[in-house]
Amino acid sequence: MVVIGQGYVGLPVAVRAAQVGYRVVGFDVSQARIDQLASGRSYVGDISDADLAAALAGGYRPSSDPADLAGFDIAVISVPTPLHDGLPDLSAIESAGAALAPHVRRGCCVILESTTYPGTTAELLCPILEHGSGLKAGPDFHVGYSPERIDPGNPTHTLVNTPKVVSGIDAESLRAVDAFFSRLVERTVPVGSPAEAEMTKLLENTFRHVNIALINELAMFASELGIDIWNVVDAAATKPFGYMKFTPGPGVGGHCLPIDPSYLSWRVRQHLGRPFRFVELANDVNEHMPDHVYDRIVTLLNRHRKPVNGSRVLLLGLAYKRGTSDWRESPTVPLADKLDRGMAQVRIADPHIPEVNAAHLRFPLVPFTPEELAAADLVVVLVDHADFAPEVIAAHAPLVFDAKGLMRGIEFAGETL
Ligand SMILES: NC(=O)c1ccc[n+]([C@@H]2O[C@H](COP(=O)([O-])OP(=O)(O)OC[C@H]3O[C@@H](n4cnc5c(N)ncnc54)[C@H](O)[C@@H]3O)[C@@H](O)[C@H]2O)c1
Repeated sequence: MVVIGQGYVGLPVAVRAAQVGYRVVGFDVSQARIDQLASGRSYVGDISDADLAAALAGGYRPSSDPADLAGFDIAVISVPTPLHDGLPDLSAIESAGAALAPHVRRGCCVILESTTYPGTTAELLCPILEHGSGLKAGPDFHVGYSPERIDPGNPTHTLVNTPKVVSGIDAESLRAVDAFFSRLVERTVPVGSPAEAEMTKLLENTFRHVNIALINELAMFASELGIDIWNVVDAAATKPFGYMKFTPGPGVGGHCLPIDPSYLSWRVRQHLGRPFRFVELANDVNEHMPDHVYDRIVTLLNRHRKPVNGSRVLLLGLAYKRGTSDWRESPTVPLADKLDRGMAQVRIADPHIPEVNAAHLRFPLVPFTPEELAAADLVVVLVDHADFAPEVIAAHAPLVFDAKGLMRGIEFAGETL
């Protein structure tokens, strides 16, 4: 089998497939990534170097040579689906499909895993595979869609024990997709069509996005009303039914939440000519959270007779969330930029981000130490990494703004979101 795209999604699938006995080509257009994988160094937190070494010693082979795609029985596509100027950019799916198409044979199976709008598998991927192979999707070869639910850094819910939604363009395709993933994961959940599976993924992420926006907006009001939002959230979470806990924060990041709902709203607008109001409102609230944090920081510094200009500000956390090394779309970046425009001296500490992953970061990446904490005029908690011990922060930082509720229950100089 082949897995196209060896990132946060594709690498774990490839390694798992090798574990259960497949011969796997992990294909990626990034030569740097392929070289790193071949040398046994994983850049994905959920795959340890030991996992990678075992896979390399078994059936797994990283490659950037399209010739290695030849002869596949099963292909999984897990390439990026970003937004470009606010619009879905499916160019990576198109080029992955075009690379696979000449190698499509009768009876093989192609499965799309990238997050995308409903209709992509049937309307975009199938024609590309058919055009390049001269075969017909359905009668000649199988095609399906199975969204990835991977939660980077989550040790409880893994690829293997998280139910996997599967679909096919017809009954035989569904059977092939289901048979493949049934070997990789504990439970599959077949649905009626690729469009249903595509929309399932977008519903899940839009649900999170909207609920985080709800709590973020409430957090902004609560601080002005003098109410502790964290106590409110905890109290509400004691209701054993009809409520799900979401916590506020400095904004949303990662490859999924800030992007996926826009795939859905784009599709709704394009096909039906109507706005998806919940998504647009949630985008608006979440995108403005870094501005809100900035305003709170300015007020806090003013209260201590300090201007932003010249203040040394240590931001704790660059990752988009706890426990991950991924900082795509991280709200730390717009906040750092805004502080920089206000002439603050910005430094960022994040033990999860190796220097090599932050080469294009404009700010110094410094270690999380008592000296760094003490040398700052203000420390801002933006990610609740387990490494950020609140007692250490309280003991050394002269002033703290805590946007994650990390310091709750501890006495410290400063404020919480
Ligand atoms: N990261 C997550 O937590 C997560 C969770 C669920 C779904 N997804 C979705 O999965 C997809 C992949 O996300 P990711 O986080 O793994 O991205 P990623 O950027 O970590 O990895 C994608 C890889 O694909 C490679 N690539 C790009 N174009 C290619 C091509 N034409 N041929 C071969 N390789 C190519 C890139 O070099 C990169 O290594 C996206 O659609 C994303 O929305 C991601």
